[in-house]
Amino acid sequence: MPAWGALLLLWATAEATKDCPAPCTCQALETMGLWVDCRGQGLTSLPALPAHTRHLLLANNSLRSLPPGAFDHLPQLQTLDVTQNPWHCDCSLTYLRLWLEDRTPEALLDVHCSSPNLATIYPLGQLTGYELGNCGWQLQASWAYQGIWWDVALVVVTTVGLALLAGLLCTATESLN
Ligand SMILES: *[C@@H]1O[C@H](CO)[C@@H](O)[C@H](O)[C@H]1NC(C)=O
Repeated sequence: MPAWGALLLLWATAEATKDCPAPCTCQALETMGLWVDCRGQGLTSLPALPAHTRHLLLANNSLRSLPPGAFDHLPQLQTLDVTQNPWHCDCSLTYLRLWLEDRTPEALLDVHCSSPNLATIYPLGQLTGYELGNCGWQLQASWAYQGIWWDVALVVVTTVGLALLAGLLCTATESLN
């Protein structure tokens, strides 16, 4: 390896360890991203992760929930290991589920929930809205709300359209006379 290559690697390693959250270990990848290993640290919440995190290992911790949008500031994140955690699988875990579904759907089959009881039967990827709790009616409520405004808009547009048509007909008949 040429000297500048070694220097680059040294710099990358220094950068990696600088932002590394306390209980985790970080390793710079040759492709510039970071390998962040937080396995088996008894974590109950997500540590502050470096922006260049590419592979994140959170297996074997005490994580129960994850705030929606938790990984939105990590554009390079590609793989996520969240197995062996006591996940509480209700609606609020939908973000994690969708994140995994989009990127590594096969990983969802390895994620198991510890609570609530109904959600412990299948892996996270196979749970339905019913087993996840109240997500269903929350979604429907917001759709219904939007539906009302669509109806109002439709009525307004139709009324204005009819008024214009009536006006046009009036002027047309007037000019004929
Ligand atoms: C999980 O982490 C604990 C330490 O928190 C460790 O003792 C144990 O061996 C780990 N289990 C597995 C399966 O990695």
